[in-house]
Amino acid sequence: MTILVTGGAGYIGSHTVQALLAAGMPVVVYDNLSTGHRGAVPMDVPFVEGDIHDQVLVAQTCLAHQVQGAIHFAAASLVGESMTDPAKYYGNNVAGTLSLLQGLRAGGVDKLVFSSTAAVYGEPEAWPIQEAQATCPTNVYGRTKLLIEGMLQDFDQAYGTRYVSLRYFNAAGAAVGGCIGEDHAPETHLIPLVLKTALGLREEVQIYGTDYATTDGTCIRDYIHVDDLAAAHVLAVQHLLRGGASRIYNLGSETGFSVRQVIDTAREVTGQTIRTVESARRAGDPTILVASSAKIRQELGWEPKKSDLREIVATAWAWHESHPQGYED
Ligand code: UFG
Repeated sequence: MTILVTGGAGYIGSHTVQALLAAGMPVVVYDNLSTGHRGAVPMDVPFVEGDIHDQVLVAQTCLAHQVQGAIHFAAASLVGESMTDPAKYYGNNVAGTLSLLQGLRAGGVDKLVFSSTAAVYGEPEAWPIQEAQATCPTNVYGRTKLLIEGMLQDFDQAYGTRYVSLRYFNAAGAAVGGCIGEDHAPETHLIPLVLKTALGLREEVQIYGTDYATTDGTCIRDYIHVDDLAAAHVLAVQHLLRGGASRIYNLGSETGFSVRQVIDTAREVTGQTIRTVESARRAGDPTILVASSAKIRQELGWEPKKSDLREIVATAWAWHESHPQGYED
């Protein structure tokens, strides 16, 4: 029952590795360490330093470890960068996933859990967002993930490769009491930037846009604890191992918070002032993204357990306080 985890040294990947191990599922992590951290993966977990473009190594890894299913996190995932360097996103994400799928087929693996994103919806027409709603990404990152969902559907029809595509809303937080957390370079996400400001590592937080049509003028997002995301991956891969059919699911807490509400929560949790500066809107940011996760609740019995905003911020704060320089690698 070994599971191949591409990108298992990254933020969501490393938390999912812990959840798979806790569920008694053996894991082999496959990561090129371009953005992941070797220190995020326990030393006793099989680790292959490799690229998803290397089909031969993917196939060899699957055969050597008798891999039954794969969870695919490895991707470039910065919305802003995707707009200025689309070639990187089409190369890493679309071409990389095509190559991975071919490597998996050669290695006899026909089940895949895929990291998709709320960015596939673009500026949604209604909230909470349901999976059947129109997809119309407003950025290159979202477009690459939507193209991959199409690729997965075609591979299922033609070759019988079954998949679960998980459309994450805003992943945040860190493992409780843990030695893993969020460490991106550069950091662009709101919660880590706010907490780095609370730690005195940054002067201030910029609020991107205060003229949105929301109660306080700032964007609203659905923050979901990374451990709740990890638990959904375990359920999704178990569904495929049981012979379940391909599915697409949203993963969110179903509650929206504005940028100002997040900063206020961080002030309460940290006891720090956290200086803010109001600045222009960031290109490509939708006004409101809030999920309906009813489908995965009903079909797989998933239930977010740690996604209260205060708990998300408190667990992230514990990680940043104990690891102010991240993994230091
Ligand atoms: N924000 C600020 N200041 C900052 C950083 C962010 O005001 O310094 C705002 C953003 O404008 C946005 C909100 O905080 O309104 C959240 O921004 P993040 O960068 O933390 O997250 P995004 O919503 O932009 O993107 C995240 C993931 C994407 C994914 C998307 C799906 O990073 O990969 O959620 O909703 F596509």
